[in-house]
Parts: sequence; C-alpha cells; structure tokens
Amino acid sequence: MATRTILKKGDPSLKKVSREVKDFNERLHRLLDDMRETLDKASGVGLAAPQVGVLRRAFIVIDYSGEEPKLMEFINPEIVETEGEQIGPEGCLSLPNIWGIVTRPERVKIKAQDRYGAYFEAEGCGLTARAFCHELDHLQGVLFDEIADRFLTEEELESLRESEKND
Ligand code: CO
Repeated sequence: MATRTILKKGDPSLKKVSREVKDFNERLHRLLDDMRETLDKASGVGLAAPQVGVLRRAFIVIDYSGEEPKLMEFINPEIVETEGEQIGPEGCLSLPNIWGIVTRPERVKIKAQDRYGAYFEAEGCGLTARAFCHELDHLQGVLFDEIADRFLTEEELESLRESEKND
C-alpha cells in the first residue's frame, strides 16, 4: 500500500464526471488499498477515486455508527432510496479549512459492487448518509462548496472543533 496525493480544489480532475469501473482486477484493488491508507493518514471520513486523480466510479467511507469504525468500499454506486433530511456542517479533504452547511437526506440506501464485482446494498444514517452523498457528488465532479447553503464562520468553526474534541 502507498499513500496518494489528494488533489485540491482548482485541479481540473475534481470537476470531471468519473467513468464506470469495468475491470475488477489487481489494479482496482491496489487503488482501493492506497485510498484506504491515504484516508487513514488524512483522518477523513470518506475519499473518492477522482480525489486521487483516478476518474473511476469508486469511493470509500468509514462508517463510525457501530462500536468499531468500519471501512466500506463502493464501486459503481447508485442511490436507490433516501429518507428524511439533515442540515449540518460538511468538509472535504480537497477543500482544506472550509466548512459549509449542506442539506442531505438523513438516511441513504446505496446499491454498488464490491472490489470483486459482486452487487450489494448498504444503508447509512446521519454522518454516514452524508458521506455517501458527498462521495457520490465527487464522482459527478461536484464539490460541496457548490451546493452549500452557506459557509461556517471562524467562530462557528472554532466551536465545531471544540465539540469534536469532547466527543
Ligand atoms: Co470530499
């Protein structure tokens, strides 16, 4: 495994629509393993392939809703069901130090393929549902700052950091 460079806003790759994954081979597995290591190092919640310059429909999310954090991999993902609404802060490894208020569904069900090509469905609520939507947006070339209702002020950012420390 190796870490890859996370592209920052302004890089044209982040604006492109990613293509379907057709080969579930060693190359894909290496990409996913590298993305995992890159996400670990960056302490993020999710990472999409275009963020490391690979324009393929794949992303990973760490689900923190259970007792242990669980890494989930999604290839060729599609939202099949959504429910409710959440309005809350959202950030992105490609837009460091910017946080925005983004409206997302409260619960999201996704159909996708795993790294071997097998289809599965997975559901996420709260932060995990938010991450699913955020990463799917990356595959369409959309960054959260384009859909944010507004951005957090320095003060709000400070209190968000404080509340995270206390979690
Ligand atoms: Co992002």
